[in-house]
Amino acid sequence: MEEKLLKEERQGEVLVIDQKTPFLNGKKLYVESYGCQMNFSDSEIVASIMGDAGYETTNNANEADVILINTCSIRDNAEQRVRNRLKQFQKEKKDNPDKVIGILGCMAERLKSQLLEEEKLVDLVAGPDAYRELPGLITEVESGQKAVNVLLSREETYAEISPVRLDTNGVSAFISIMRGCDNMCSFCVVPFTRGRERSRDPKSIVAEAADLFSKGYREVTLLGQNVDSYRWNLSKKGEVLNAEEETVNFAQLLEKVALVNSGLRVRFSTSHPKDMTDEVLYAMAKHENICEYIHLPVQSGNSEVLQKMNRGYSREWYFDRIDAIRRIMPDCGISTDVIAGFCGETEEQHQETLSLMEAVNYDFAYMFYYSERPKTLAERKYEDDVPLEVKKRRLNEIIDLQMKHSLESNKKAVGKTFKVLIEGHSKRSKVHFCGRNTQNVMCVFPVKNYAIGDYVYVNITECTAATLMGEIVD
Ligand code: SAH
Ligand code: SF4
Ligand code: F3S
Repeated sequence: MEEKLLKEERQGEVLVIDQKTPFLNGKKLYVESYGCQMNFSDSEIVASIMGDAGYETTNNANEADVILINTCSIRDNAEQRVRNRLKQFQKEKKDNPDKVIGILGCMAERLKSQLLEEEKLVDLVAGPDAYRELPGLITEVESGQKAVNVLLSREETYAEISPVRLDTNGVSAFISIMRGCDNMCSFCVVPFTRGRERSRDPKSIVAEAADLFSKGYREVTLLGQNVDSYRWNLSKKGEVLNAEEETVNFAQLLEKVALVNSGLRVRFSTSHPKDMTDEVLYAMAKHENICEYIHLPVQSGNSEVLQKMNRGYSREWYFDRIDAIRRIMPDCGISTDVIAGFCGETEEQHQETLSLMEAVNYDFAYMFYYSERPKTLAERKYEDDVPLEVKKRRLNEIIDLQMKHSLESNKKAVGKTFKVLIEGHSKRSKVHFCGRNTQNVMCVFPVKNYAIGDYVYVNITECTAATLMGEIVD
């Protein structure tokens, strides 16, 4: 196999990553991703590692020699979907026995060799920190062996790997800035599937953003399970670890990425209410190209439930963070995640979630009912005692309220003009463009003399709960 020719070179502050000349082994790779944005971002790292080993990516599973499914374990139904998909691939494999089918990501990490040995649904299992080993694991499968690597690492950040952008619009891209999570929210499987939290070298993050900008990208989203705990060369208590090296917290990282170019929009996800500082909010307010949008998952509006969830904040603390956002950025878009029917949740506690939503007036929300996950603190400590019908009814109340708020929030935008980055053509019509405003709301407007990747000003004339419609003003 050709030697890896990635070369890192300092040029002032920016780390330049030279791409090696591609070589092909004549084999094709198909990757399918489920779950959060981090998983989609990981699939791009996987495509890069496999590309270095000679594999060309394809969008067509039928013509692929290797099929990799990057999976999610966050709720039971996420896992069921993947199981059904794997069964479908197993059927197709009967006609093509040489096809390699592998499972990656959180389900691979959670179930380890179970899908390979007991359920015989896959040939290969690789956890989130084992992707550099994929070409070797495939070789093992080809020689008739079982291939499993689910070792979690304390260091791996794939820092110097230049992701191969999959499904790209050529305008927006994800950049992973950290991996893992140390928070141990009692309902959550992520600390078990992704391992310990670790931050990526800021120089490689800035280099990736600069590289994307030079290739025509105009928006990057910095990803981490809790971006507010990003820290480079700093201990958890904030002490400097190595006096020779620079220290960088999340607010400083945001500024560094914003300074790559004022024409590059910067977004990030996910913020954690217990860790989000005013320093981050001031950095956002200072740079026009850091989008005024924060995803701040609340999970519940009741302090007792929040404590059982081990979230590290109370209802009052959450309100204080919302007040800080509104004080520093009055027009900031705010969205959230809510879980209905967590262990022991009473009707009154559920009402407090609704009243918190009324008070905050979110622009958008992702809403779920509680799904017990094996090995989590909640599974070990609390009974999953809210009946399914009750969970579903509470969830529906939450969804109905949010739909009302989303529509109200969009109605307030009618008549206003927003700066929008054109991301592509609207799904429904070739004569319309779509793109988001700084608050992350999708806008649709007739095509004019502009191109994908341009910034335009759009005057909003109509709306639904999900979309703003308008026209470009020159
Ligand atoms: N790191 C992010 C969330 C990652 S998971 C954060 O801390 O907010 C995305 C969302 O899935 C969570 O915010 C939560 O609302 C939901 N979720 C996680 N585990 C769940 C479970 N067991 N049942 C239902 N929803 C869950
Ligand atoms: Fe899960 Fe909590 Fe970590 Fe988010 S912060 S990934 S909810 S443990
Ligand atoms: Fe799912 Fe893993 Fe992301 S469990 S939400 S893919 S970190």
